[in-house]
Amino acid sequence: MEGPTLLPPVEPFRIKVVEAIHLLSPVEREQALKRAHYNLFNLSSEEVYIDLLTDSGTSAMSDRQWAALMLGDESYAGSRNFRRFEQTVKGLTGFPYLLPTHQGRAAEHIFFSSLLKRGDIVPNNMHFDTTQEHVRRNGAVPLNAVVREAYDPRSEYPFKGNMDTGVLERILRDEKGKVPVVMMTLTNNTGGGQPASLKNLEEVSRICHTAGVPFYLDMCRWAENAYFIRKREEGMASKSIREIGAEIFALADGATMSAKKDGLVNIGGFVATRDEKLFERMRELLIVYEGFPTYGGLARRDLEAMAVGLEEAMDIDYLDHRVGQVRYIGDLLDAEGIPFVHPPGGHGIYLDAGAFLPHVPRENLPGQTLSIEIYREGGVRTVEIGGVMFGEGKDMSTRLELVRLAIPRRVYTASHLAYVAETVKRVWERRDNLRGTRMSSASESLRHFTAHFEPL
Ligand code: F0G
Repeated sequence: MEGPTLLPPVEPFRIKVVEAIHLLSPVEREQALKRAHYNLFNLSSEEVYIDLLTDSGTSAMSDRQWAALMLGDESYAGSRNFRRFEQTVKGLTGFPYLLPTHQGRAAEHIFFSSLLKRGDIVPNNMHFDTTQEHVRRNGAVPLNAVVREAYDPRSEYPFKGNMDTGVLERILRDEKGKVPVVMMTLTNNTGGGQPASLKNLEEVSRICHTAGVPFYLDMCRWAENAYFIRKREEGMASKSIREIGAEIFALADGATMSAKKDGLVNIGGFVATRDEKLFERMRELLIVYEGFPTYGGLARRDLEAMAVGLEEAMDIDYLDHRVGQVRYIGDLLDAEGIPFVHPPGGHGIYLDAGAFLPHVPRENLPGQTLSIEIYREGGVRTVEIGGVMFGEGKDMSTRLELVRLAIPRRVYTASHLAYVAETVKRVWERRDNLRGTRMSSASESLRHFTAHFEPL
């Protein structure tokens, strides 16, 4: 297990292009909050100083990726960029059938619409919001079967993204014939960016295949997951990320991917499978919703940049720094006793808002309250992952009430991170004065994107 670090991780890159950012005054931040109805998704980016809303599509591309964009062969069909992309993904995963999509949820749409029918059940370690929504829209029921340690923010269990195999076996036995696919999300985003172990993936694969059920991965953050396997699992330290990846993908029947994460691009994704029949059904839908199978909703130059990004995300210097940045903020917060999901995840720190604001009842939205306050304090934008995102109807209680500080890849330096930790610390020091928040309007599904709030 990694020990605490006092020194920040040193950036394994130097900066060639800069983008100015500016901190608004406290009065301007207050006005921005009001105008946004206290929903940070409604802020414009100029109103944000350090943007930790998401690690998705927010990566800085490398010089090699920008150069790749210039190699775009914008042919409608048969572009050479598609061939390079295909070679890269097939080389990495071994999945023989591949369709590019414009992002992860488009891959989910094509995949689930081709596979699910009403009344089906889809077990996952933990569904992400869009994944859950796609399962539901196809009339199926999403079930989370993550290990119980995932629900204890203080547990140091190293693989909190693991599936509870006992629960999975029970679902497959009791719901025989109703489970067309089992998924695992690498890393477990909803539960703190926590990894699954190779051993657990092997076990889940064996259980699924014994039951005759296909096993798929949501591989958005697979490289970060592989990095944790390399660090924490016995016998893995001498293996490369690519080798660990090969072992992971050999266990699965296919995957959906948002390349906006471990593909290091601003847009892109894919769905891949070993099942030729499923591939043919998905290809039909792809043409209707995304585009021809050699571009799938993207400019061909984007496929070229994605091919480069998928390779760069496996670089060990990059990953040491990337995961090290998350751990660095974690160490700074730990020094103040600020509660967050332990151990620090692969792509962000998840503050435990329930423990941060124990005096704010769940119906008064401690997570939303904390995320508003962090913006108010220092112009830092985070996201609530709790009752607003995953509550049902009027019920705001979820097992985890979190605020995610997602770290964009290769974007912020150590001093930005120190600033973020200082901002959170200042909110921590005056936490007793925070009262809570009320949701004044909301849509029925995926309400966190559009809901309006009022301070109490
Ligand atoms: N699966 C997981 C685990 C995700 O985290 C996301 C996106 C998706 C699928 C969908 O991919 O955005 O490319 O359509 N997560 C982002 C986030 C939005 O902020 O965590 P997408």
